[in-house]
Formats: sequence, structure tokens, C-alpha cells
Amino acid sequence: MLSKVTVFAPATVANVGSAFDVLGFAVAHPGDTVECVRTDSGTVRLLGIEGDGGRLPLDPTRNTSAVSVIAFLGELRRHDPKKYESVGIDLHLNKGLPIGSGLGSSSASAVAAVVAANELLGAPLTRLELLPFAMEGERVACGTAHADNVGPCLLGGFVLIRSYDPLDVVALPTPSSAWVVVITPSVEVRTEDARKILRRSIPLTDAISQWGNVAALIAAIYRDDVALMGRALEDKVIEPARAALIPGFYEAKTAALAAGALGCSISGSGPSVFALAASQQIADTVGAAVVAAFDSLSISATMHTSQINSVGATVLKQE
Ligand code: HSE
Repeated sequence: MLSKVTVFAPATVANVGSAFDVLGFAVAHPGDTVECVRTDSGTVRLLGIEGDGGRLPLDPTRNTSAVSVIAFLGELRRHDPKKYESVGIDLHLNKGLPIGSGLGSSSASAVAAVVAANELLGAPLTRLELLPFAMEGERVACGTAHADNVGPCLLGGFVLIRSYDPLDVVALPTPSSAWVVVITPSVEVRTEDARKILRRSIPLTDAISQWGNVAALIAAIYRDDVALMGRALEDKVIEPARAALIPGFYEAKTAALAAGALGCSISGSGPSVFALAASQQIADTVGAAVVAAFDSLSISATMHTSQINSVGATVLKQE
């Protein structure tokens, strides 16, 4: 029987331009790490958080990592109360992802925790079965249990959420030719706020453009066609509204496209921006151009380049 499991869960890019709330992909880094220790206390405790500057709650009912594990353990207890009644789990969270960055920070904590807890208990559930519990973490973090970050964080690659009710999740192939650069300016955007500003209804012409682009994105993923993927990021609905929350967004996007990006949009609810490129070298050049664009507005920014991460959360250590 295992006593301790450590799991790394990567950053994710949700929405992918046009596909608001229904598509996301995982990148290689950065990410969050959670260590789970088995106890016989019958409770879930969050004993420590590093890397958050003291900003995240240790209260297990308010922290996305512990909320997910509580929901997971609750489900196991419903099925086999005798076996899981006295099982307790102590968590340590190491935040590699900045909070409110649009990189799926709350999802990474939830996914790392729930994957570690599942491994610790002998993997009673599959990765896909863990999704609803990780979504509970998302609900506590921003008020809605969307799955376009937690899906790819758990499963890796591109993940499509065809339906939320009932939940219908489709894992897509991982295109090997796409390079991604994610640039994070030192600005914070709360997902909850970035959702509140969105229009509740949209004109039919915008809807037509949007579903054309979403369909093209899916085709591009299957064809491993980065150029089509880049064109299909075009977002007539969400990006224009959220750009107002990101100082320098249009300057950054213009710089990305001028430097060779095949497409550029907001990562999740922002403020991070991501761009697609056909090679690592171009992705690095694009990232540097975007960092310089933010810098010219006195906004510091960091960048990370990688391919699409096909595996999602990974177990780092088991004892
Ligand atoms: N789909 C979500 C949004 C992702 O854009 O609000 C943010 O976590």
C-alpha cells in the first residue's frame, strides 16, 4: 500500500480562441505539484502551500485542490463506506502557476491533487472518471464548473467538451507539428470577472463565424495542420470583450503575428496570451516579440514555449 504520492499537473490553454468553454489543450510547463500522504484520520487536510505568496486559503472547503479530493473521497465512500470511512489524506501544494493568469492555475491544483489521491488509493478510478471531481475544484475557484482546463490537464492533449449536461468529453489527437508559446503579463484577471462581462446572446452572423472556426479547429487538429489551426483561432465573440481587461492585448497580438505566429489569442480568461507557430524557433521569436510589446507598455511578462503535452498530469514519485 502506498503512503505518499507526488503529481505534477501542467498549465492548460482553454477556449483555444473560438472554442469558448468547449476546448482546451495542455502544455509541457509550468505547472503545479501536489504531494498526497495517506492517513487514518478520515479527513482531508491541506497542510501547506508554497509559491502562492500566502494568497490561497488552507481551508480545505475553499481550496481547489482539497475540494476535489473531498469530492473524490466522498464518491468512494458512497460506494464502499466500510473501506474508505477512516481513510484520510494530507495535501501539500506547490504552486508553479501564477494565480489569475489564464493558465488553468486552479485546475492544475485540483487535477494534481485528485490524481495523486487516486494513485495513493490504488487507482480505483480512471483519469476520465476523475474529471467531475476536478471540476468541483474549478467551481469553488471561479463559480462555474467548466471543464476546458481540467479536461486537458487530466488527460493531456486537446480535449473537447461536447456537452456539460450530461458531461460528454472527447479526447482528440495531439498534433505533433504545432508549437505553442504562452506569454503571461504581470496583470491579474479573475476568471469570475472575465465571465461576468460576456454578452448573454450573440448575433447570428457572429455565431456562424464562431462555429465555422470551431469546426475548422477540430479538422486542423485531426489533419495536424498548424496553419489552419492558427486561422481558426479567430474569435468574434469572447476575445473582443476580454481584450479590454488586458492592457496591451492588441499590441501583443500584432507583434505575435508580425513575428511569424500562425494565430494568437487569449489563453483561458487571460491575461496570458498564446500563439501557435510551425517551429520552436519561430515560437521563441514570437514569444520574445510579445514580451517586448508588453515591455514597451511597462508591463513585464514571462514566456514558455512547448509542444502540446499529450500526457497531462504525471506521477513524479510514489512511496
Ligand atoms: N473557459 C473558461 C473561460 C476558462 O474562458 O472563462 C477559464 O478558466
